[in-house]
Amino acid sequence: MSLYLLRKMIRKLPGFVIKAVPKPEPVVVDGFGSREKVGKICADAGYKSALLVTDKTVYSLGYHEKILDSLEANGIKYAVFSNIASEPTIDIISEGRSAAVGCGVDCIIALGGGSVLDSCKIIAAGAKMPRRKIKNLLDKFIYVRGKTLPIIAVPSTAGTGAEITVAAVVNNANGIKCSTVVIGLNVTHVVLDSELTIGAPESVTVYCGMDALSHGLEGCLADIKTTEEDLQKSRECVRLVFRNLPRLITTPDDIDARQNMSLAAYYGGNAINKQLVGYVHAFAHTIGAFYHIPHGKAIALCLVPVVSFQKSICMDKLAKLAVYCGFARESDDKAAAADRLLAALEQLLETCGFEKGCDLIDRKDYKKLVSMINADSINYSPPKTLSNKEIMRLLDEIRKGEKVL
Ligand SMILES: [Fe+2]
Repeated sequence: MSLYLLRKMIRKLPGFVIKAVPKPEPVVVDGFGSREKVGKICADAGYKSALLVTDKTVYSLGYHEKILDSLEANGIKYAVFSNIASEPTIDIISEGRSAAVGCGVDCIIALGGGSVLDSCKIIAAGAKMPRRKIKNLLDKFIYVRGKTLPIIAVPSTAGTGAEITVAAVVNNANGIKCSTVVIGLNVTHVVLDSELTIGAPESVTVYCGMDALSHGLEGCLADIKTTEEDLQKSRECVRLVFRNLPRLITTPDDIDARQNMSLAAYYGGNAINKQLVGYVHAFAHTIGAFYHIPHGKAIALCLVPVVSFQKSICMDKLAKLAVYCGFARESDDKAAAADRLLAALEQLLETCGFEKGCDLIDRKDYKKLVSMINADSINYSPPKTLSNKEIMRLLDEIRKGEKVL
């Protein structure tokens, strides 16, 4: 049997597996400055002591101070661990786990971007198994008897959705990024505080925004049975990005737009949990890793070519999304509605300053790239399985930034 046929046969397997994984259903607290409520959240939940985990950058910006003030005001004991790096290693996570166990905390406050949030998932799981080495926990799945320590997630960026996703991406013992699904992840609260994202550089805002949009969009197109409520959240993620990201280009301190982007990212995280992602991510992960391109920028390169390529098979879903986002009417021809959504996507990329095409991509790398894309895509639920020839054609389109006939 060819590898293509095998991939085609197991295409729906990740969808079945992810359905069986319990997902956190946190209480969402949002608003500018809402991290001041963390102390009360702890007190109301009955937590007596907390470990605040963050990274050096967020710590140096002082974003943790309002949280610590609120913990003190509510009589919650705390310790701070601010050593998380952008590429979290086993050693750093082990230190974080030791801090949690050593202080006997009953909850983790995760303040930061995707790296901090993902590290906290492993720390919260590891704290329940203090005798197990962290390196031995990092497998495809971590199974926690009962649940992890409770996590209050306070994302400092609006993009990854890591505040709610069950997977944690950290470096394994060989220094290679690996994704581990935490079974029993216990995120009890998500605090969406736009004050944390308001000072972000434009590049961070647009890269994160593209990432969030791609999670919602790929969720809408995924070949997986899901509830209407979850589908609605994925569509809302896309609509919120279309409406609010351009506002942040002209007015970066628009609080409403910032708050809406944080909500979009959260809905995008829900989409990953419930619908997984697809080929946009398989291409972006591969091109990003191979040519050292940030995730959001790689997503922006791949979005239009990959989604356009899947248009015929996803026509209904794209047309519905176009209507939901206000780019088409219910009565419009489906192909025309789908085209309007794609045109809006191109326009959004232009507004955000993304250029088409990528000179770094070299045809001589195609063999390696194709095998990486194939390996990554088997973890997702794309609407169809692409052949090697189709993947190469798409690589051509991403490289040139134009359609290849
Ligand atoms: Fe992503």
